[in-house]
Amino acid sequence: MMGGSASESAYRVLMGVLESRTGQTLSPNRIWRIEMSLKPVMQRHGIADLDALVAGLVTSNSRQLLDDTVDAMLNNETFFYREHSVFDDIANNALEHIRTINARTRRLTIWHCGVSTGQEAYSLAMLLAEQEAKWAGWQIDIVGTDVSYHAIARARVGLYTQFEIQRGLPVQRMVRWFDQTEAGWLAKADLRRRIDFSVQNMLTDRPPLASSADLIFCRNLLLYFSLPMRQKAFARLRAMAAPQSFLVLGAGETVLGQTDQFVASPRLRGLYEPADQQVRRPDLTRPLAA
Ligand SMILES: C[S@@+](CC[C@H](N)C(=O)[O-])C[C@H]1O[C@@H](n2cnc3c(N)ncnc32)[C@H](O)[C@@H]1O
Repeated sequence: MMGGSASESAYRVLMGVLESRTGQTLSPNRIWRIEMSLKPVMQRHGIADLDALVAGLVTSNSRQLLDDTVDAMLNNETFFYREHSVFDDIANNALEHIRTINARTRRLTIWHCGVSTGQEAYSLAMLLAEQEAKWAGWQIDIVGTDVSYHAIARARVGLYTQFEIQRGLPVQRMVRWFDQTEAGWLAKADLRRRIDFSVQNMLTDRPPLASSADLIFCRNLLLYFSLPMRQKAFARLRAMAAPQSFLVLGAGETVLGQTDQFVASPRLRGLYEPADQQVRRPDLTRPLAA
């Protein structure tokens, strides 16, 4: 048996549906949780068990059932300032490099690919908003995308439980950028308006970016792709990356042995850069020519 009480073929169908719709594969420890994750979906759709759910998926042609099922199997784990030092490095180093590179255009485009319920993008938006004087006169676009429509709906609303708001968010920022309401902690309009959230499958859809991205976050998403899917994903990220840009991966992720589209940044530890731009990058330690 692969999981709980359902037939092995039911689990295989569900895993196949997840992979064909999102590229994600289920690790053995997550297969055990399928039944629990899908319980609310089965309740909502009046379905008795996993075998009946699979039968429903095969016979009913219900788009809603399919979307709900796929969504419930995704791992949406996230929290504010996840791997805190990454945000410090970005604030102190990567953004400074981009300021120099884009000094003439004064545009900054950031893409959070696989943004889940939004905490990662809000973390960066707060950081940038607090550097208001530094970015005066700049056009800053922050785009957050995810294949999960449920996660994106939550990100747009910006409402978090007490547990979620306390995970990684310093108290000063919590008070400055969120209002406590009966329903939970709601991001202030001034914070929400800084990010454009939308549903997007990064393997198949073009992200809604006005220009190529200077900074791409794609953290803790590639982990669950097979190698061929991961290679495709890197190619998609590269297609949206500005010539001189940075890619941020999760702590357990790397480009080594995975792709030749990106290489470890020779100047910024823990970040990646498009491979084909290495030779053309100017010496950023020197001031720009007038
Ligand atoms: C574990 S969460 C990571 C969230 C955040 N980046 C972080 O590190 O805290 C991974 C997210 O990737 C999303 N995802 C998985 N496959 C995707 C795909 N093909 N396109 C876009 N998003 C995807 C999932 O829905 C999930 O919200």
